[in-house]
Amino acid sequence: MEQKIPVVASILNTTILVVVIASAIIQGVQGIEIGVNYGTVANNLPPPAKVAKFLSKSTTINRVRLFDANPEILHAFGDTGIEVTITVPNDQIPHITNVTYAQQWVKTNVQPFIPKTKLIRILVGNEVLSTANKLLISNLVPAMQTLHIALVSASLDHSIKVSTPHSLGILSNSSPPSSAKFRQGYDTHVLKPMLNFLRDSNAPFMVNPYPFFGCSSTTIDYAVFRTNSGVFDDNTKLQYTNMLDAQLDAVYSAIKVLGFEDVEIVIAETGWPSVGDPAQLGVDPKTASEYNGNLIRHVTSGVGTPLMPNRTFDTYIFALFDENLKPGPIYERNFGLFWPNMTLVYDIPIMRNNVAGVANSHCKAFLSIIVVLSLICAWL
Ligand SMILES: *[C@@H]1O[C@H](CO)[C@@H](O)[C@H](O)[C@H]1NC(C)=O
Ligand SMILES: *[C@@H]1O[C@H](CO)[C@@H](O)[C@H](O)[C@H]1NC(C)=O
Ligand SMILES: *[C@@H]1O[C@H](CO)[C@@H](O)[C@H](O)[C@H]1NC(C)=O
Repeated sequence: MEQKIPVVASILNTTILVVVIASAIIQGVQGIEIGVNYGTVANNLPPPAKVAKFLSKSTTINRVRLFDANPEILHAFGDTGIEVTITVPNDQIPHITNVTYAQQWVKTNVQPFIPKTKLIRILVGNEVLSTANKLLISNLVPAMQTLHIALVSASLDHSIKVSTPHSLGILSNSSPPSSAKFRQGYDTHVLKPMLNFLRDSNAPFMVNPYPFFGCSSTTIDYAVFRTNSGVFDDNTKLQYTNMLDAQLDAVYSAIKVLGFEDVEIVIAETGWPSVGDPAQLGVDPKTASEYNGNLIRHVTSGVGTPLMPNRTFDTYIFALFDENLKPGPIYERNFGLFWPNMTLVYDIPIMRNNVAGVANSHCKAFLSIIVVLSLICAWL
């Protein structure tokens, strides 16, 4: 009888090992968890209920960001397990500084949908500093603070964080990355109090880095994570092999000047269009597939950036669908990952595919056999 204990223990160890290996295989085959921006400036999109079901069942997308608080979409993501971020539109920012208004906003746009819908963040506007609108800019931090107070009074401040995404236009200089600073005026008057608020409420600093907008014919390989000669930062002696790392480290350096380098950085938007003006460089499905595929692998790899080693970045790709009603150049309407019929515009590793299903069922069968054998051995 005494001999059985070590035997059972070693069988248990083997079983645990097999389970660990099998789940690693399943994860490897199934794609990588990532966020997307669900923009809706279009007249050809599928109904939200269909979208929510498709994302949760067929893709590894586990987070979505909305540019508003569309109740139909919020309802659709109920019981999907997908984390949802909503937005207070720019024009409402002055109103949100009124605590009664903020509480009503939470009552209307948040409370009816939780906890079925997993709301994790509310963004106050988008790229507000780039609007150059003094009324919006001066009210931005007060609006964030007031919305947070409204969440505190509803006991929701631990599950729902308040932040706001910035374009890289907030930097006055970004090259080399270590020399980056926020624009003068915004640095002490807006970004310092904002970073104080984000740190105190344990919320992230959110940015929209787009190597697409920063690249030229000589830097396209650097922008889409292809092999290239890289860029050397003379101050830090660090080598940059891709533009996204350089953009993120520029943001990090600017934050560090103000003393807030402990605040988490989230990539609220980044992407690459698949169609543009015929003369436009690197705007095609193949390049979009390279950028977004390499992006997903890079931000989740745990490699981090030269100034932020070993980090992963919470990242939202722009965008889920093409938005055919957006104004501006052709590429603005062609950032989508999926067609309206829910097939991929180009290949990227975000599908739970059939291969995974097969691997999954084989692993399960294999595991069952091991468990049965373990039990039989234990009885012998
Ligand atoms: C604050 O908002 C409430 C609710 O919308 C409104 O009734 C009130 O007049 C507002 N107060 C101010 C000072 O604007
Ligand atoms: C990053 O990971 C490497 C390898 O595990 C380790 O040597 C290094 O100390 C880590 N750096 C930081 C800043 O954690
Ligand atoms: C989905 O839509 C795209 C774009 O319109 C089209 O090329 C493709 O054939 C469609 N796929 C299916 C399965 O309907």
